[in-house]
Amino acid sequence: MLEATELHVEFSGRGGRRARAVDGVNLSVGAGEIVALVGESGCGKTTLARTLLGLERPTSGRISYDGTPLSYSGRALRAFRREVQLVLQDPMGSLNPRHTVYEAVAEGPRIHGLPDEEAVVADALARAGLRPPERFFQRFPHELSGGQRQRVVIAGALALDPKVLIADEPVASLDASVRGEILSLLLRLRDDLGLSALVVTHDLGLAWNIADRVAVMYLGRIVESGPTGDVLKNPQHPYTQALLSVLPESPNRIVLTGEPPDPTRIPAGCRFHPRCQLVAAGEGKPECSTQPLQILPAGTAAQVACYLATT
Ligand SMILES: Nc1ncnc2c1ncn2[C@@H]1O[C@H](COP(=O)(O)OP(=O)(O)OP(=O)(O)O)[C@@H](O)[C@H]1O
Ligand SMILES: [Mg+2]
Repeated sequence: MLEATELHVEFSGRGGRRARAVDGVNLSVGAGEIVALVGESGCGKTTLARTLLGLERPTSGRISYDGTPLSYSGRALRAFRREVQLVLQDPMGSLNPRHTVYEAVAEGPRIHGLPDEEAVVADALARAGLRPPERFFQRFPHELSGGQRQRVVIAGALALDPKVLIADEPVASLDASVRGEILSLLLRLRDDLGLSALVVTHDLGLAWNIADRVAVMYLGRIVESGPTGDVLKNPQHPYTQALLSVLPESPNRIVLTGEPPDPTRIPAGCRFHPRCQLVAAGEGKPECSTQPLQILPAGTAAQVACYLATT
């Protein structure tokens, strides 16, 4: 449905150094599929998400939607923007405090010149679980709970009848009970409307509860991906193992050494090797620090980019 192929996105950083925020990514989100993109802060998740939305232009590689390469001309991009919608975390930040719920949800339909605005808004609110929708029309964000505000943001996306939602940390700012509510809403939207979603998150628990597939990103690359159960129950990449080891139920925590990753200085060989706990334990191979790893293809089966993985 939505696919990134050999995607690179670079920014010019301080001192003229290039920051390779996305540095060779193949990733697909199938129809009706929920894919979680996980990885620590700064690994390029938001940049990848924004590029998938057509908000950022790739330095090289491409985005395709329904098999057609994304065109960055006005008209094609407008049509694409209806079908692939962004849902932001932090609903207080993404809602204008002076706009009513109605205004917030009507904004997209107005920009796209949709007929029957009021019916579209009511329908979107109802689908996002705000019922009866008319009761919410004249409310302001500060009069709503955190969960309701997140539902308004989701309704704003649903008003355009999208096929794919890209949710950047959709529940990071919410408490646990609200988080559960929003997760079940996303799952219901998938079941009822066949929506696909890419859910960008730090939260592996969230990935476990919602995603069909998980892609683990490290320093601009997908280092491991596959069905959620495979990746989270039987992680092959040392980085995925380290991420999972911080969960409360994990027996022993793996502490990564070394500098936090910097996209202007991507290490040679495996980009994770300077922080790898296996390399630190003397279990590395010479190629870990010398040979560039292959970029993983956009497959759905479990796969890992690591010289030390046993499968
Ligand atoms: N517009 C930009 N100009 C320059 N550098 C950027 C820009 N956007 C992102 N970067 C850099 O690209 C890298 C990846 O950033 P990105 O926001 O994609 O990470 P992230 O995984 O979403 O992090 P977080 O989990 O904190 O949201 C970072 O080093 C960031 O500083
Ligand atoms: Mg981000």
